[in-house]
Amino acid sequence: MGYKILGIAGSPRRGGNTEVMVRAALKSAEEVPGIETEMITLAGKKVMPCIGCFKCMERQELCIFKDKDYMAEFYEKWLMADGIIIGSPVYHLAVPGILKNVIDRLGEGIWGLKKSGAIDSNWFFKVGGVMTQGLATFGGQEYVSQYLVNHLVLMNCLVVPPENVTVPGVVGSFRDESAFKPGMIEEYHPKAIENAKIMGKRVAEVLKIVKSGVENLKDELPKEYLDYVLTKDGCEKILNMGQNK
Ligand SMILES: Cc1cc2nc3c(=O)[nH]c(=O)nc-3n(C[C@H](O)[C@H](O)[C@H](O)COP(=O)(O)O)c2cc1C
Repeated sequence: MGYKILGIAGSPRRGGNTEVMVRAALKSAEEVPGIETEMITLAGKKVMPCIGCFKCMERQELCIFKDKDYMAEFYEKWLMADGIIIGSPVYHLAVPGILKNVIDRLGEGIWGLKKSGAIDSNWFFKVGGVMTQGLATFGGQEYVSQYLVNHLVLMNCLVVPPENVTVPGVVGSFRDESAFKPGMIEEYHPKAIENAKIMGKRVAEVLKIVKSGVENLKDELPKEYLDYVLTKDGCEKILNMGQNK
């Protein structure tokens, strides 16, 4: 059985360092048998901020404005993926606004459904990994890594640690032209790309361990594992929720 990892490049800059890192991670993940991947970039996408209307919760559906911008497509790709790898540049010691907009509306839409009781799962959905890079040494990579880890935890994902670094992310700190010229990170910072590859492979491996573990233990595990972890049915249910309203 094949599993899908979605790579999210959270920079608004097309072809940038984040894209290079996420692509490297996915390429390495694909070397694990049975893993397929897809990368999406937020560059050039329109994603409005959450306006806090709580209509998602009230109407028990995903963000009611999802068809007005990129979110409809994003929900589908996110929900149907088994694994998630998020990459982000550091922007003002944080993530870029467009990535925050995506995260707010993803999180609120799905948490809205949970709080409303429309779905009852408190189980992790997916296996995830995070990576980040920025211009400055101690430029905020730790904050971004931590934020993205927190986000994955809030989404009930199982976060996979990378190789041998003290924060759970790929930290490519640099002060040279690679930060300004899009996509130069590989040339200047091969170590960051190596770390990205390790991360990609680990996410793929842990994903397979979790899925096959659930398959082997399905007779003794609570059914939510089967709904949301083993099969895509639970995710499809969420995706379709509210479509006919
Ligand atoms: C608005 C803005 C804010 C930034 N803030 C930071 C920062 O706080 N710390 C840092 O190390 N780099 C910062 N940078 C540099 C980017 O993180 C760096 O250029 C990165 O390589 C961009 O990634 P990308 O090529 O994927 O777009 C900032 C860049 C921009 C455009």
